[in-house]
Amino acid sequence: MPKDTGKTATFTIDGATHEFPVYSGTLGPDVVDIGKLYAKADVFTFDPGYTSTGSCESKITFIDGEKGELLYRGYPIEQLAEKSHYLEVCYLLLYGELPTKAQMDDFETRVTKHTMLHEQMRNFYSGFRRDAHPMAVVCGVVGAMSAFYHDSTDINDPWQREVATIRLIAKLPTIVAWAFKYAAGQPFVYPRNDLTYAENFLHMCFSVPAETYEVNPILAKAMDRIFTLHADHEQNASTSTVRLAGSSGANPFACIAAGVACLWGPAHGGANQACLEMLREIGTVDQIPTYIKKAKDKDDPFRLMGFGHRVYKNFDPRAKVMKESADEVLGLLGIENNETLAVAKELERIALEDEYFVEKKLYPNVDFYSGIILEAMGFPTSMFTPIFALSRTVGWISQWKEMMEESGRIGRPRQLYTGPTQRDYADVDAR
Ligand code: CMC
Repeated sequence: MPKDTGKTATFTIDGATHEFPVYSGTLGPDVVDIGKLYAKADVFTFDPGYTSTGSCESKITFIDGEKGELLYRGYPIEQLAEKSHYLEVCYLLLYGELPTKAQMDDFETRVTKHTMLHEQMRNFYSGFRRDAHPMAVVCGVVGAMSAFYHDSTDINDPWQREVATIRLIAKLPTIVAWAFKYAAGQPFVYPRNDLTYAENFLHMCFSVPAETYEVNPILAKAMDRIFTLHADHEQNASTSTVRLAGSSGANPFACIAAGVACLWGPAHGGANQACLEMLREIGTVDQIPTYIKKAKDKDDPFRLMGFGHRVYKNFDPRAKVMKESADEVLGLLGIENNETLAVAKELERIALEDEYFVEKKLYPNVDFYSGIILEAMGFPTSMFTPIFALSRTVGWISQWKEMMEESGRIGRPRQLYTGPTQRDYADVDAR
């Protein structure tokens, strides 16, 4: 429960004054509870983009954008990226505490036992065009899970909610890897339970029946880190979408499919693909000034993809860790000197010094570096956002689970209507 601070916020309109309670959480700014504003004062708040609106109470993830701090259940992301691993982070996000050895073993076993897809789901893939964007395929197949796993769609049954949670975390790598294989025209590769979560994903993406595939441990570590760094990010657009869908009582598979759809946009998870494509479009270092000029031009819609963030106004702590991983992976693969990388490094240098970017606090975000790593690993750009979706599934489902464990009302924002006032229908020959 939020703590009542005893303070009130006063709102005056048309000579009448109304008071609203102020609550504080454990971290972050206080909030004014304006739930009764409309009833008391007959006005709505107006906050397009929700820059000043807290939509829910949550105990999962905290971001301090000014300090560049990201905590999962209180633990700094840098510590988790260094010392933990993705499945442990999943456990932490879902259940609130780091697991004991026995709890971890049990969780890992439960996830591992659910990695296969219902065999009939294979057929679902062949309904898509081979050139379909894998995000379209992933969105469709995740949504279709509700047609295959009826025994975990009763949202009022805590056990079914738990089974759906495990199924989503376990099956997303298989769904995403199969979207990749389908686009590549290669046979689907089944999951292997002797591999770790990240190793298994790489195995399902890159192994072929014709030869043995050894997972490189450095690549597996980098993959695991990408999963960890993207695991949750409090009430961003896709998470809010999942919560809003869930508030209507929709089943968890439908809610996560809604999250996948929202993540796809280039201002959100689609930025990793857009960033790599932008680096390729810039092409050579000498072209950078032209693009910096475009980014600053108010009349040009071009933005430097992979830069800026709604919340981080100092630096993106995920980007710092991701940069280290990028250096490690590129070093291992011996590709420190390619042109795209040279453009990325120079762009980063210029943007960090340029007055426009410094003044607006536009730092490289997580997507700036993740795309570089994923490309080096051999993923096409179209796979970047599906990998983000697979990583974020645990965050979405943790937030959904938290919401379902509390009694809540359907999410229903209001609006400032500026359309026509009431008018009478005119027959077609009178228009
Ligand atoms: N390039 C050039 N100018 C920018 C950029 C950019 N990438 N981002 C913001 N600005 C400018 C913007 O034009 C505006 O200028 P002014 O104040 O003169 O009008 C100012 O900075 C503030 O921008 P905003 O659009 O009001 O900021 P926002 O909080 O609404 O948007 C953002 C945040 C992430 C959508 C935006 O920075 C952006 O479009 N970045 C590129 C896309 C990207 O990399 N997204 C991934 C975010 S990290 C992964 C995730 O969480 O999904």
